[in-house]
Amino acid sequence: MRPPPLWLLSLLLGGLGAAAPPPAPLIPYSSQDPDSRLAAPQHLELLLYNDEQILSWAPSPPSNDTRPVVYQVEYRYSTGSWTAFKGVNCTDITVTRCDFTGGGRLKGFPGLYSVLLRVRARQGERTSDWVTSTRFQRYCNVTVGPPKNISVTPGKGSLTLHFSPPFDVAREAGFEYRVRYWEKAGAQQVRGPFKKNSIVLDNLKPFRVYCLQTEAQLIVREKNICRPGLSLSNVSCHETAADASTSLQVILIPVGTFSLLLVLTGACFFLFLKYQSRVKYWFQAPPNIPEQIREYLKDPDQPILEALDKDSSPKDDAWDSVLIISSPEEEQDDLLQTL
Ligand SMILES: *[C@@H]1O[C@H](CO)[C@@H](O)[C@H](O)[C@H]1NC(C)=O
Ligand SMILES: *[C@@H]1O[C@H](CO)[C@@H](O)[C@H](O)[C@H]1NC(C)=O
Ligand SMILES: *[C@@H]1O[C@H](CO)[C@@H](O)[C@H](O)[C@H]1NC(C)=O
Ligand SMILES: *[C@@H]1O[C@H](CO)[C@@H](O)[C@H](O)[C@H]1NC(C)=O
Repeated sequence: MRPPPLWLLSLLLGGLGAAAPPPAPLIPYSSQDPDSRLAAPQHLELLLYNDEQILSWAPSPPSNDTRPVVYQVEYRYSTGSWTAFKGVNCTDITVTRCDFTGGGRLKGFPGLYSVLLRVRARQGERTSDWVTSTRFQRYCNVTVGPPKNISVTPGKGSLTLHFSPPFDVAREAGFEYRVRYWEKAGAQQVRGPFKKNSIVLDNLKPFRVYCLQTEAQLIVREKNICRPGLSLSNVSCHETAADASTSLQVILIPVGTFSLLLVLTGACFFLFLKYQSRVKYWFQAPPNIPEQIREYLKDPDQPILEALDKDSSPKDDAWDSVLIISSPEEEQDDLLQTL
């Protein structure tokens, strides 16, 4: 039997050698190829608005590696070491934001602690460099929104505002409120600061429309070094009611007039009763007594009926005249007395 040709042997051996290479040492991808190092997250942005505390960043640019990119966030107080979050889902996340309040379940970072944050991307074994944020203190860097649930009650030449604080703060801090207000096409005025959750704008003009804007300022007690931002509420306009003096006028003028009339009428009646005889004397010769009766009064010997008959007008009319003059009692009395 002839031995196999050398070329076949070498082919077989070569093939076997290729089939069983020595195992390669596990080297990180990045150190194998420096160009393929994962790009770090960019454009870190910290949102601190009321009680929201959210860090966001731009995603790493895509590469040929199809494995998912995840992000890791850590924090550090001024005197601590870098720590991963517990209770907040900010480790190996696929989204490019981290909500330190866990969507409202947690309080986030406390008011006056100085905090640093850092983020890196990871893809399999590959990681990026850490990117560190600017140091911040929540109560100093926060933007405070306007008071919440503002309700306005118009009063007599006044407007009363009720509201709640923009968010809950620890005992070392509180809010001060200011109101800007103006009449339509009038100059803006400011009242405040107020510490209570209600404000009375008094000494306003009655029956006028006023527009308002409120703002809340975060005050950190004993450490007035922070200058947190603030934002004004939306404008709302309200009409005042009558003020105290106007409503008094509105009530007093008719009531006063009525009482005055009542008193005058009463006085007249009283005087009339007291000086009835004198009144009768004064009204003895009323100017509107019909001619026939006046003639009759001058000459009582003439029978009244004849005097009336002298008139050319029909009898009914004559009697009408008599009825008219006889309606005031004193005249009738006079007439009867004279008769
Ligand atoms: C990634 O893919 C592009 C084409 O899609 C290619 O030109 C490039 O060489 C690839 N890079 C690596 C590191 O494989
Ligand atoms: C954390 O967030 C990621 C999205 O980035 C989500 O897929 C995952 O389920 C979350 N984990 C928990 C425990 O909520
Ligand atoms: C917080 O405020 C300080 C002082 O105004 C500023 O230097 C710093 O950059 C702010 N931090 C952030 C994250 O904006
Ligand atoms: C102000 O008004 C805008 C638009 O009308 C609204 O989207 C916003 O929520 C309002 N802001 C407040 C604090 O009510």
